[in-house]
Amino acid sequence: MQQWYHENAGIQHVGTLAPRNEFTPFAPGQDPFGAKEQSEFRVALNGEWDFAAFDAPEEAPEAWWDAPPTRKMLVPGNWEMNGFGKPVYLNVRYPIPYDPPYVPQKNPTGIYRRSFTARLRPGERWLLNFEGVDSCFYVAVNGQFLGYSQGTHNPSEFDATPLLRDGTNELAVMVLKWCDGTYLEDQDKWRMSGIIRDVFFLLRQEGQVLKYEITPRLSGDQCRIAVRWQAQTAVTLELMDPEGRLVERAEDCRDRHEFVLSRPELWNAEAPRLYSLVLKTGSEVIGERVGIRKVSIERGEFRINGRPVKLRGVNRHESGPLTGACVTREDMLKDLLLMKRFNVNAIRTSHYPPNAEFLRLCDELGFYVIDEADIEAHGSVEAPRTPDSHGDYSGIALLANRPDYEGAIVDRIQRMVERDINRPCVVMWSMGNESGYSVAFEHALRWVGQRDPSRLRHYESLYALKDAPVPNNSADVLDVYSVMYPSLEDIDRYLARPYERRPYFMCEYAHAMGNGPGGAEGYWEKIYADPRLMGGCVWEWCDHGIRTGTEPDGTPVYRYGGDFGERNHDGNFCVDGLVFPDRTPHRGLMEIGQVYRPVRVEKKAGGRFLLKNMLSFTAAEDCLTCRYEVEQDGRRLGEGRIALNLLPLGAQEAVLPDLGEGDGRYVRFIFEASADTPWRKRGEPVGFEQIRLSAPRTRLRAMPAADPDGLKLEEQRGHILVSGDGFAYSVSRATGLPDAVRLAGRPLITAPVRWNLWRAPNDNDAPFRRSWESLRLFDLEPRVYALSAARGKEGAVIRGSAALGSECHQPVMRLDYRLTIGGHGELDLDVRAHVTENRPPLPRFGLLLTLPGDMDRADYCGYGPVESYADKREAAWYGAFSERADEYRERHIRPQEAGAHTGCTRLNVSGGSGGFRVTGEAPFDFRLTHYDLAKETAAAHRDELKPEEATFLFLDWAQAGIGTASCGPRPAPEYQLTQREIRWHIRLEPLSGK
Ligand code: GAL
Ligand code: MG
Repeated sequence: MQQWYHENAGIQHVGTLAPRNEFTPFAPGQDPFGAKEQSEFRVALNGEWDFAAFDAPEEAPEAWWDAPPTRKMLVPGNWEMNGFGKPVYLNVRYPIPYDPPYVPQKNPTGIYRRSFTARLRPGERWLLNFEGVDSCFYVAVNGQFLGYSQGTHNPSEFDATPLLRDGTNELAVMVLKWCDGTYLEDQDKWRMSGIIRDVFFLLRQEGQVLKYEITPRLSGDQCRIAVRWQAQTAVTLELMDPEGRLVERAEDCRDRHEFVLSRPELWNAEAPRLYSLVLKTGSEVIGERVGIRKVSIERGEFRINGRPVKLRGVNRHESGPLTGACVTREDMLKDLLLMKRFNVNAIRTSHYPPNAEFLRLCDELGFYVIDEADIEAHGSVEAPRTPDSHGDYSGIALLANRPDYEGAIVDRIQRMVERDINRPCVVMWSMGNESGYSVAFEHALRWVGQRDPSRLRHYESLYALKDAPVPNNSADVLDVYSVMYPSLEDIDRYLARPYERRPYFMCEYAHAMGNGPGGAEGYWEKIYADPRLMGGCVWEWCDHGIRTGTEPDGTPVYRYGGDFGERNHDGNFCVDGLVFPDRTPHRGLMEIGQVYRPVRVEKKAGGRFLLKNMLSFTAAEDCLTCRYEVEQDGRRLGEGRIALNLLPLGAQEAVLPDLGEGDGRYVRFIFEASADTPWRKRGEPVGFEQIRLSAPRTRLRAMPAADPDGLKLEEQRGHILVSGDGFAYSVSRATGLPDAVRLAGRPLITAPVRWNLWRAPNDNDAPFRRSWESLRLFDLEPRVYALSAARGKEGAVIRGSAALGSECHQPVMRLDYRLTIGGHGELDLDVRAHVTENRPPLPRFGLLLTLPGDMDRADYCGYGPVESYADKREAAWYGAFSERADEYRERHIRPQEAGAHTGCTRLNVSGGSGGFRVTGEAPFDFRLTHYDLAKETAAAHRDELKPEEATFLFLDWAQAGIGTASCGPRPAPEYQLTQREIRWHIRLEPLSGK
């Protein structure tokens, strides 16, 4: 009878071989650096397997390896994406009762079966490898139990040789959805099961190298590369330099060898130079890339090869919209090339070791990797809570403090380190995520420190259970001080601590969910200003929507938590990336790419500019060219090129020719790729810096005098009517605003003009949304106290006083305003608004105009061409742009505010047969869209929201910033609309000639 191990926290593996570094042996004569699939010694077992599903392991036949198959299952593949069970998305909470090490008796079980042919040769060992199985598995070969293993993202290797026969063999794997390890795999992700990574045999030959370790040690101009291995015979080593030239050949070595190189070429993420090492025995060759680099901390500063480096990072989960947790090499490459394209240089493999192949790609393309152990016990926070107790976040260490789990925690960390020990891209080991602190972590950290002193140790979750036997000082085991989602003030507080010497690492910041992230630049101003701030990783790289179909135009339809009938779920919290599930970049990625730009420029006195190279190893001129454009309100005044002479981390002064004085002048330095790379073509922009030379001119001139005979003013009971040559306004006494406007004989609006404070809440509006809703900001009723009209020099002057409010509460805002309708049909609004005390920061304040559908073109001068918000406008610049409604509106998977432009000094809205121009006394914001605000607010998925015939123009005094408060801190105060007194003066004028 099968003995069960999956509810025994003390047993992780049965029958597995000792952990080893990941590599693929090739046959003599084969290219040892070829694709691993090409190795004669690798027998792939991926593909369709026979499959039988059960509700629990006990329900499978006792001889489970003989269970008759009922269907097929893809390997690698998640069951839930292949018709067995449903996906469940949960963030913090455990998907099962918290009762470690026990799991529910209803424990979905899949029995995979397949046959394979073995030609057994003397001395050859058949090692069965599983690179990842969620959550645990039992293996049998030819009806005999071979072993058991758990730890979803760690490899397991078994020697199947004794159970094999020459010819056809039967392999059976029983995978369970839950095991005691589930309590350590509570990562914020889709909870799915199955064999999620490659399965294969490695045929190992006599004298095989079991494992090896390469340790380059740099001192001065010299590098000693120590290679140590375990093998039964002598090994011949060959080391080639990055150009492929033989450096040294060492014959018949035993156990170890040291290469001594003078003036070696070093590896770094900007120039990932790799040496090549070949290990040969009589029967096998192994090829390994070697990156020579040194990771260190000097006076609190993170350094690579002695040079300061900032981590411009992202957090990356492995996921795909159709494949769940399974990704191919092409998927990985796609991610990495996109990251390169957007100036990312660091990746935290949240929250488990990635596919081993991923790290090899990182070595080659150049990324600094924080390799994270497959550990998260976040659900411990929720486990003890009852409806009336809100627990304590320190409860997060509940699981980690269980003595019976110590072995499992240490095992997961050790397996990661052993597998990835030779990967130069890995610069830090991460102990896992959000599991609290305990002696288990303490032991693991000490073990890592001894096993691999060449890398840094990171772990963020230092909360411990009260009275837990853990030291209160982690500085001796943690090399960096790690935080998540700090505010800018938190960072200042850290820097002010006299006793803290470690670098400060934001393992997560800038929660990119939905319309986001906003405010990222603020962090980087600080990071560049202080050597101890080593950078951080945006949360997170990609959205994890599941693709369930397509819209008629081919746009993917995505679903998220709760869409699969889950009883417990966390909604769209899994849709929080910089790229859509299919890797289409979000606007947020452009923002981060720009924040991570390699060159920054500052304005100095006297027409001089200082260019600063943010790259640590590359002279800017070796990868970039620079040109500049000087514009005045979008009109080109001059342009030129700057010859870069910019050493790594260096600075260069540039002087631009004198272009005279004037308002609204901006210079934009544009940095372009100087050569083709796999991620960018020569000439493509890499980043830019726009600098304001002079403030934009205020555009509101005095209104021209109106010819009194040409203007008709008529006061009616419900309306005030004003008309003149080619225009007619009706101002409603109910709203105090125009409810009908005709210009050039045609209606300009198709619904009454409204005051508007609402936006379809962004995910990042989380802290404000409830109070906005309880104040019913989405549907405020105007209360007009007075509305009077008189003739003035410039036209009809209507004075209004009103309030905006809703039931139960005091009005949100009181307004006093003057509407002047000029002799040429101008509409001039000068309003003072007074916001009631104790109101939350507002989403926006402005007017909503409903225009005819064909009036859908905007020509504006402001921050574009992409959407821009007060704190999300790094990738936008001030200039003159044109767009059609919604051209730059992102179709977020959960609809929300998108597509606005901030800092506008003029706007022409036109189309069909008319149009008007908007100017203001101060820059204003606008958004032109066909989407109805109420429907956009209500829609849960983008495919449920359809454009309307009408065009909606949101004309705003201002709109709130975006921030990252779906998880991070609130937006910085200057990006919140907390003003109590608002003054807004804006003018609409009919476009002449139309
Ligand atoms: C962090 C966590 C991530 C993710 C994020 C919110 O606390 O480490 O895994 O859940 O919050 O999206
Ligand atoms: Mg979590």
